[in-house]
Amino acid sequence: VVAKTPSRLNYHFMPQIGWMNDPNGFIKYKGEYHLFYQFYPHGTSWGPMHWGHAKSKDLLHWEYLPVALAPSEAYDCDPNIEGYGCFSGSATTQNDDLVLMYTGDVDSKEIPQTQNIAISSDGINFDKVDLNPVIPNFPKEATKDFRDPKLFKVDDTWYSVIGTHNETLGELALYRSKDLLKWDYLGILAQSNGKQGTMWECPNIILSDKNDFLIVSPMEGTVNQKPIYISGKANLKEPSFKQSGQGILDYGNDFYAPQTMDVDGRHILIAWMSQWFSKMPTADDGWSGAMTIPREVTIKNGRLYQTPIKELETIRVDQLREIKNQEVTHLEQDISEASELKFNLQIPENYAGTIELEIADCEDTTQNCKLTVDLKKSEIILDCSNYSVEQREICKAPYEGTGDTIDFDIFLDTNSIEAFINNGETTITNRIYPEAKLKTMKLVCDNQKPFVVNAFSAWKLDKTI
Ligand code: FRU
Repeated sequence: VVAKTPSRLNYHFMPQIGWMNDPNGFIKYKGEYHLFYQFYPHGTSWGPMHWGHAKSKDLLHWEYLPVALAPSEAYDCDPNIEGYGCFSGSATTQNDDLVLMYTGDVDSKEIPQTQNIAISSDGINFDKVDLNPVIPNFPKEATKDFRDPKLFKVDDTWYSVIGTHNETLGELALYRSKDLLKWDYLGILAQSNGKQGTMWECPNIILSDKNDFLIVSPMEGTVNQKPIYISGKANLKEPSFKQSGQGILDYGNDFYAPQTMDVDGRHILIAWMSQWFSKMPTADDGWSGAMTIPREVTIKNGRLYQTPIKELETIRVDQLREIKNQEVTHLEQDISEASELKFNLQIPENYAGTIELEIADCEDTTQNCKLTVDLKKSEIILDCSNYSVEQREICKAPYEGTGDTIDFDIFLDTNSIEAFINNGETTITNRIYPEAKLKTMKLVCDNQKPFVVNAFSAWKLDKTI
């Protein structure tokens, strides 16, 4: 396969060629960020899983590195079956080494999945350890599904949370190790409350003083759902997680398997900007799958917020427009196919109408992609049907704002839209496939009702990849 240029994104990470799904092993090592990903280099649909690899100094400009892991051993390779390989996992550092923990899959339907370790002293070449699988099987009989280990360290002890399930409920198994090679099973850390999926993939854990958070990508039967976070209190000694709340991480159609990295006092999240059932029209150009922009996750009022990482400000190349404190009936602006639109509006007093942002690739703004905030229904709606290559759900999220202003930060790229509303209270991510390059935007309150723009900026964003 050879990648052609037209469908390439400008500032979102994507594979050079081939298929990509989940982010893996997201970590800072020797001063540089490393991102690995589920990768099939020999085709544009899912196949025997490798770990692709890239590194970056700023999380935006990525240097592609050689494949880090390829199927090769009895626990991750069986050419006689269709699905096998080095499935998702995470990274840690040990002394000067970069260490990966990943799931070996040789047929998840028949043979239980296992957890394995690979070590690198140069951050490029990885050796699978002889002791693999370091966690050969899951102590519970009920399931072969046992995958996506997420490593974390508390004091001098490593833990790993691993996605699994019992007969009907998604669960996380908790393991502990002093050396990353010998692992003790501690028990089930958390379980679905009955409405959070029948299998949990790609777990993450964020520990904080007040609330702890789990992030999981749930499946309901065989269908992948929108990733959720669950707040509560984790007990790592006698594994339990007392749930106190939950939320949907991103209400879009194209957001799955997010992985977090705790680094320099920040929690950074990146997700696969697709879903298992998404059509991949870029496959015609030799590649499929991309990552979201990296987002900073913060904890406020017992819940998670996601905002674009501050590094993204460095790729604003051209300021297309700036407005401050101006009353308008509508706002139209030419944009670039790679743009950021950031604005804050005053909600007119007693206003119970809509605020609409239309994004279009041509003058005919009815052929658009439309983000609507309906204050009457307290709902946010992202309708990308005009720019879809398949029948897709119109995304709806509750509007949770209570103030008299509303804040938007919208990231557009060749074939994606990521909307952050009210400083990351709600996010919605979709792939869009307009016929031509995105060209215009229009902002309007219903019936051209005048509204005050407290601040508006539109930037063209630089190409980083
Ligand atoms: C999630 C997932 C993981 C698995 C990987 C395989 O998208 O199904 O659970 O490890 O993809 O590529």
